[in-house]
Amino acid sequence: MIRKFFNSKALTPIAQRCEDDKLTTLRQKYDLYYEIAEEQSGTHITIEGQDLVMLASNEYLGLSLHPKVIEAGKAALEKWGSGTMGARSANGGRRFHRELEEEIAAFLGKESCHVFAAGYLACMASITGFAQRGDIILADKNLHSSIWDGIRLSMADVERFSHNNPARLRAILEQLDPQAPKLLSIEGIYSMEGHIAALPEMMEVAKEYQCFVSLDDAHGIGVLGKQGRGTANYFGLTDEVDIIAGSLSKSLASTGGFVAGAATSIEFLRTHCKQSIFSAAISPAQAACARAALKVMQDEPEWNEQLWTNTKRYKALLKELELDIWDSETPAVPIVLGDRERAYYFWKHLREKGIFTVISTAPGVPPGKDLVRTAVSARHSEQDFEQIESALRYACKKL
Ligand SMILES: Cc1ncc(COP(=O)(O)O)c(C=O)c1O
Repeated sequence: MIRKFFNSKALTPIAQRCEDDKLTTLRQKYDLYYEIAEEQSGTHITIEGQDLVMLASNEYLGLSLHPKVIEAGKAALEKWGSGTMGARSANGGRRFHRELEEEIAAFLGKESCHVFAAGYLACMASITGFAQRGDIILADKNLHSSIWDGIRLSMADVERFSHNNPARLRAILEQLDPQAPKLLSIEGIYSMEGHIAALPEMMEVAKEYQCFVSLDDAHGIGVLGKQGRGTANYFGLTDEVDIIAGSLSKSLASTGGFVAGAATSIEFLRTHCKQSIFSAAISPAQAACARAALKVMQDEPEWNEQLWTNTKRYKALLKELELDIWDSETPAVPIVLGDRERAYYFWKHLREKGIFTVISTAPGVPPGKDLVRTAVSARHSEQDFEQIESALRYACKKL
């Protein structure tokens, strides 16, 4: 109102839409998102002077403060500067990009790999880089937003099947034109639900119907499989899955993303994917931190072991408290409260007791699944768990 009074210039329709948007007004009023931490130390952050245990980070292995990761980032900054200032297809390619790609490919057991400046871009590219108009994409209903954007941009037709359900996938495939090229898009670990893909069954159907399989394993890398090689490795299906895409911003303690697969597929992707051709290459420090974290994952298996020890402990507590964790099988653990209000109060009471979590409500999750999303880290200490436990007991009592 005051702004309108002082600013006599008429608003354009789009500026007016921004001014009137109810979701933005609500978000700002309740201030649940876009919070700013003033400090961070390990699993603790400070927001508006309150010390909080971080129970919602995707840093599963807790490597972002590992001395070898920090040292690698600093050395890369000094050697290569702060950024690449160009796309890989133009002036931005550096030796360390190739090295990172070779290391990721070898780690995953794939021939080749291409890295991107964000996991979001990589996961979009894992679809748009391969599918095109006239193709059919078979998509799990609960895929990440980056994949849905990739699907839309590809111009292919899309068929959704119910979450992690190979029987529904088969039923849909039975109805489709057998000649149409098909791409199956699934995740390794579904980040909101903590479910592991029913990969063996999915692959069986995919093989029968000749689907090219693209797996977004952003949350599986570092968590599942030998030394954290991910979901395909966990099931012994690395050779069968065509594409493994992922993020460097979770277990790999950096930012950026990758797409790995057969050399011919990755060269095809490099020719066709706009997310790489027209976007600046990942920066030296980000690449170096991811490379160092990848090495730590292989040299120091204790981080993965500790992650699972912590996960079991945390889940035992949630079970004792009779909380609904949506059958999560992994360190990504939703606490389903069922409606928006209950989710909000649960979240608020955890916050009151110094625990940082994230709230997710419909339509971000299916109706009735409004939840507080939590995630375990290898870094959570005995003290952290004591605080988490007492906060959870408090929040449960207040429900
Ligand atoms: C399943 C999945 N894919 C892709 C991404 C995007 O990764 P990034 O945050 O590194 O851009 C995320 C991020 O949360 C994710 O959960």
